Amino acid sequence: MSSLLRLTLVFLFLFVSCNSPKYLERMNEETDYYIVPKPKKLIPANGAFLLNQPVTFNFPDELRQEAEFLRKYLYEDFGETPDEKSDGSLVLLQVNEKMGAESYILESTPESLSIEGGSPQAVFYALQSLRQIILKQNGDRLIPAGRIEDQPRFTYRGMHLDVGRHFFNTEEVKQYLDILALHKINTFHWHLTEDQGWRIEIKKYPELTKTGGFRNGTIVGHFPGTSNDNERYGGFYTQEDVKEIVTYAAKRHIRIIPEIEMPGHSQAAIAAYPFLSCFPEEKTTVPEGMMSSSSKEQQENGRIKIVQESWGVYSDVYCAGKEETFEFLENVLDEVMELFPSEYIHIGGDECPKDNWKRCPECQKRMTQLNLENEHELQSYFIQRMEKYINSKGKKIIGWDEILEGGLAPNATVMSWRGEAGGIEAAEQSHEVIMSPTGYCYFDYYQAENSEKEPLAIGGYLPVEKVYSYHPQPEELTQSQQQNILGPQANLWTEYIDNFDKLQYMLLPRLAAISEVGWTNRDDRKWLDFQKRLSALRKVYDRQNYRYATHVFEQPEAH
Ligand code: ACM
Ligand code: ZN
Repeated sequence: MSSLLRLTLVFLFLFVSCNSPKYLERMNEETDYYIVPKPKKLIPANGAFLLNQPVTFNFPDELRQEAEFLRKYLYEDFGETPDEKSDGSLVLLQVNEKMGAESYILESTPESLSIEGGSPQAVFYALQSLRQIILKQNGDRLIPAGRIEDQPRFTYRGMHLDVGRHFFNTEEVKQYLDILALHKINTFHWHLTEDQGWRIEIKKYPELTKTGGFRNGTIVGHFPGTSNDNERYGGFYTQEDVKEIVTYAAKRHIRIIPEIEMPGHSQAAIAAYPFLSCFPEEKTTVPEGMMSSSSKEQQENGRIKIVQESWGVYSDVYCAGKEETFEFLENVLDEVMELFPSEYIHIGGDECPKDNWKRCPECQKRMTQLNLENEHELQSYFIQRMEKYINSKGKKIIGWDEILEGGLAPNATVMSWRGEAGGIEAAEQSHEVIMSPTGYCYFDYYQAENSEKEPLAIGGYLPVEKVYSYHPQPEELTQSQQQNILGPQANLWTEYIDNFDKLQYMLLPRLAAISEVGWTNRDDRKWLDFQKRLSALRKVYDRQNYRYATHVFEQPEAH
């Protein structure tokens, strides 16, 4: 560029910026701050904070990571980071411990952009709001002036992932966590063990992943299947992978609650250590005609327990009579509790058929000794015993609502999935509850009424609008009992989700709806308004190359 041209450009720039400070006159409206989940309070002002001129970042050391995230988001959204100069316009990040731990105030003026939060987590949430505001400006490098005061409705805002049916590798789990963070989800429920695969390395029991981490085949099509693909499938996380993921989540202010499922859904563990079954000498069964050829051969050669290859619920579960079962589970949990800082450990408890326990001499002996009336009470004994162990290590258990059957463990948190009845019962008994009813929270359901055009799903119909209509505090409860509801969680079971693209399609934008259910006061939630704001979040999805379902955007209200 010639120096004359350069000089002309400089003058032109000065002329434009001196004579038409349009950004100062800019009249902002609510549409300039489309954010999901909807903030508690929004006060538009006039003018804007410009990001096309040098800025100065000012933050305390405890917000170093948040400042890094801010630079990263600005880079992703603009293709370059703003120039940082000591006399640039001020971008201020602060912690104010007088505010709630998840509360933040974001204020943009022509002079400064200021974020104040009750903790680094709250500042991080302000940044998630900022990402949406930035992309809403369609390339204008500015933040419209205004003030947002925000705080979440529920302290627990959860999202689950089943890595047992299908395995998602460390990079994919990290990307999943990024997606959760964007939606201000603060809890990741990681379902790590299943009939179809054990996914976490346990050093004391190497066969859990060596044998239990892989299956010889998978059914084709919908349960019970049309055939078996006869392809070996599996994978697992080493303890180093787990540490990496826990650290990655913590930086994004997400706690991870690991689930080690018991006493049901345990065939992968049983394939690795058959002594855990009531009947180590009985063959693993797979629905008629659906077993892989390798497994058939294996069973003929005497290795009769296999990792399950079909979906569903099976009666080969941990024996509740043998002491060895408890010793095994305690040893497993010792390693798990060491890896996860979360105070909660999920122990499953759902869908445990009692057929084997009814036939098993050891289980029956235990029932007689303890004067237990039925096998539900034996399951309750099982869970209570594990609770005592976990409590003794300073941690608490969460279980699916079946743990109510036969008597609830004294300190357990109940995750209500078979509707809300279990959650209501537990809340009435003064237990903590997480609401995750299938009818609103199961993202493995279809997203369109006409399922023929949809990728294969487990069944059901759960459009975004229905997710959005959920309110996790049932009217049946008194106000004080409603306080026992910690918040909502959505679940993603992966029988029919075998790759990360499909996973995102099932997740988004339903996650946006559940995130607002967890974050925003019920009275402030309006479907049409949500649908409009979702269009701004969609810009972030597009920028990040996330896959998502477009049904909701095709409805007329969305335009
Ligand atoms: C569950 O969906 N079986 C908890
Ligand atoms: Zn038994």
